[in-house]
Formats: sequence, C-alpha cells, structure tokens
Amino acid sequence: MKKWIRGGTVVTAADTYQADVLIHGGQVVAIGHDLDGQDAEVIDAAGCYVFPGGIDPHTHLDMPFGGTVTADDFFTGTRAAAFGGTTSIIDFCLTKKGDSLRSAIAAWHEKARGKAVIDYGFHLMIAEANDQVLDELESVVANEGITSLKVFMAYKNVFQADDETLFKTLIRAKELGALVQVHAENGDVIDFLTKKALAEGNTDPIYHALTRPPEAEGEATGRAIALTALADAQLYVVHVSCASAVQRIAEAREKGWNVYGETCPQYLALDISYLEKPEFEGAKYVWSPPLRERWNQDVLWSALKSGILQTVGSDQCSFNFSGQKELGRGDFTKIPNGGPLIEDRMAIVYSDGVVPGRISLNQFVDVCSTKVAKLFGMFPRKGTIAVGSDADIVIFDPNVKRTISAKTHHMNVDYNPFEGKEVYGEVVSVLSRGSFVVRNKQFVGQAGAGQFFKRDTFVRP
Ligand code: URP
Ligand code: ZN
Ligand code: ZN
Repeated sequence: MKKWIRGGTVVTAADTYQADVLIHGGQVVAIGHDLDGQDAEVIDAAGCYVFPGGIDPHTHLDMPFGGTVTADDFFTGTRAAAFGGTTSIIDFCLTKKGDSLRSAIAAWHEKARGKAVIDYGFHLMIAEANDQVLDELESVVANEGITSLKVFMAYKNVFQADDETLFKTLIRAKELGALVQVHAENGDVIDFLTKKALAEGNTDPIYHALTRPPEAEGEATGRAIALTALADAQLYVVHVSCASAVQRIAEAREKGWNVYGETCPQYLALDISYLEKPEFEGAKYVWSPPLRERWNQDVLWSALKSGILQTVGSDQCSFNFSGQKELGRGDFTKIPNGGPLIEDRMAIVYSDGVVPGRISLNQFVDVCSTKVAKLFGMFPRKGTIAVGSDADIVIFDPNVKRTISAKTHHMNVDYNPFEGKEVYGEVVSVLSRGSFVVRNKQFVGQAGAGQFFKRDTFVRP
C-alpha cells in the first residue's frame, strides 16, 4: 500500500524544505506538493523533520568478546537502533587466524537471519593476510557485497594484527576496491603499560584509560595512514577519540590522501572522569579507545564540522554491568570492553551538535547517514530521500525534550552511559523500505524483516 508523508520538513544532507513524500513498493516514488496520494495511507508529519534513516557504520551485535557475549543480539540491537532513528547498520564479522572467510561470513549471517528488524551489512575482519585469505577476498568483495575490511592494531593476543597484515590488506583492498578500516591504538605499548599498572597494584577501571594514552592512538593512526599512502589505498579510521588522531587525519587529508575518520557519541559527550565513578561504576565506561579529557570534545566537533571526520558510528558493544562488566572487579583488564550506544547515537549528535549550533541540521544527516552510505557503497539506495531510494525514513519531532534512561531505553542492557542526560528531539516513527518499524513511538516491526544488503565497491566521495 502507498504511504503519503504529509506536512513535514524534508531534511537531507544538502537541503531543508517543506514537501510531502510518497512511498510505494518500499521506495520513494515522489517528493513535492500536490502529490497523487489516492489510496495512500496518510502519515501526518506536521511540525516534524522527515530525514533519511540513520546508518550506523559500526556495531558489534551478538559478539563474543572479553570472555562473554554482548548483551544485545541482532533483534534487540536493531530494535533499539530503530527507536533511535537508525534504519541500517553495518556490523563487524569477526574472523580467526586459519578460518576460511566464507565460513566466518556464513556464521555471521546465521546470527542476523530471522532477527534483524532493519537492514544490515557486514564489514569483514582480517586476522591474517595469508595467500588463502587474500585469494578469497576477491569473491567476498565481488560476490558477497562485503566491501570493507577491518584490521585491529590493538587487543594484543586477541584481535591484534601486525603491520605486515595491515599493509598486505591495504594493497589487496586497493586492487579490489575495498575500504580498509583500522582500530588504531598501539597494542604493544598498551600491553606493556597494562602489565606495569597491574604489577604496581593499579587495578581500578580508571587504569583502563591511563594505560591507553592518546598518543598510543595518535601513533597508530599515523602509522596506518603512512602504510595507506605507501599502498596508495583507502583508509577509514574507526572510533576516533582524541586530538592526536584527528591531527594525523587532518594532515593526511590536507595532502589529498584517501583517508577518512569516524567518531562516536561517547567521545563527543562523555569524558575520562566517568571512569572514576565510585563502587566500580567506572566499569560502565570501559571501552577502547577510552574516554579522553573533556577538551578533546571540541576538537572532535570541529573536525565533524570541517569535514576532517566524516561520520558518527556508535561502536555498539553492550555488556550488562551486573555479571559482565563485573568480571573485571579487582582487575580492569578483565572488564569487557564496550558500551550500549546504538540507540542514542543520533540523539547525542542532534542534541549536542545541532541544537547548540556546533554542526548544521544537514551536517547531522550527513554524518549520521548520507556520508556513511557514500563511503560504504550504499548511496543513493540508502542515505538520502530521493525518488528511487529505499523508503528508510524517520519522522522526528524537534520540539520535545526528554531524558535518556535505562528505565526507558530499548537495549537489552542494565545501564545507559548517558543516564539522566536531557536531550532535545524525539523519534516518532520509523519506516524501513516503506514499512513501519516504529509507529508513534511503539515498536511494530518484525524480527527477520531486515534484509542483508550487498554493497558496492569504494568510490571516493
Ligand atoms: O571497546 C570497544 N570499542 N569494543 C568493541 C570492539 C572495538 O574495539 O571496536
Ligand atoms: Zn575498536
Ligand atoms: Zn568497534
């Protein structure tokens, strides 16, 4: 059945204008005034923004990590994403040394199938770049539609790959048209500092941050950029948290290199002091890279505004405080790294970014949706409202003030890192390919309705 979104203000990365939107067959078929909405179901959007559904480029759902498994799976995670205005995610498919890529991808498809309520794609982790892996990548990129590869430069003895692996991955990615992503922290330095801290009896959550200093992130970011330049490839630095890393990316982009960066709501709105909360509550804020000193937030916002950083991902990787974060009582290295962030990603960027004028409304749409679609081979099918695009649409009331809380959020986790924070604006309804997932703030979606999307190869935006 046709749907006719009436009376709203359409916001894309480029424009803000009053128009109605007509949807048919899961796609936008007309935008304007005096549309032929005969037989269409009318959706009243008066007083609301109508923007393209958010695309979260960085999630970890149903992921084993730190001796446990994330609290949110593809059902609870994508449902919470939808409540926050996100209609697509790209999740990280993990691999192990010796695994065939095909079997790792099949296992990740199993996790999502029948559960996701919004559309999803995968990035693929590269644990080692042996001949079999480099061979298999051709079909992964061309046939599986997985066109972004992830290399971890940290988590020694768990995920960390060496520079040879990163360099070989960059060279192969250049040949295949894939975008290489890095978790940029110097894992060897962190390993040394961590062992030293424990030997000195420093076991509290704050030591997670103190053993992962900003320059460990800056150094790894600079190294990954240098290897990218040597390989003449393309690089996307995930979860940029601090000025040292921003500076490296800015310098590379100044030289015209093909380097991009993502930050996350937690780095934009929280700071290192949260790790010092009493009663072990600091563990709720343990993720990597760690939270930084507050002044870094201004640097991150400016980098988003000026285009040095292009996107905001959530790095959703949720663990309950009770029973999961608590694994690290008496030893901060045993606290599972990650936080519940998928639901509030766009709320933080809108409320802390658009409302005080740090970024424009169109930039909000760009960093939360459009630029993600462009960098990751999904545009213009997703990431915009245009005739022929998927009808992934959010109706957002900017006139509401509300308070974030674990009591009302939809993630399957017992705390919210933004607990008590007042934010402006509220997601009223969300459509995925023309079907309601959230309608008047109620979940009406279906487990399994989300579809896997194959993505195009990298094109410089
Ligand atoms: O602490 C984090 N960020 N957990 C998820 C894995 C990663 O490094 O992105
Ligand atoms: Zn990471
Ligand atoms: Zn991550």
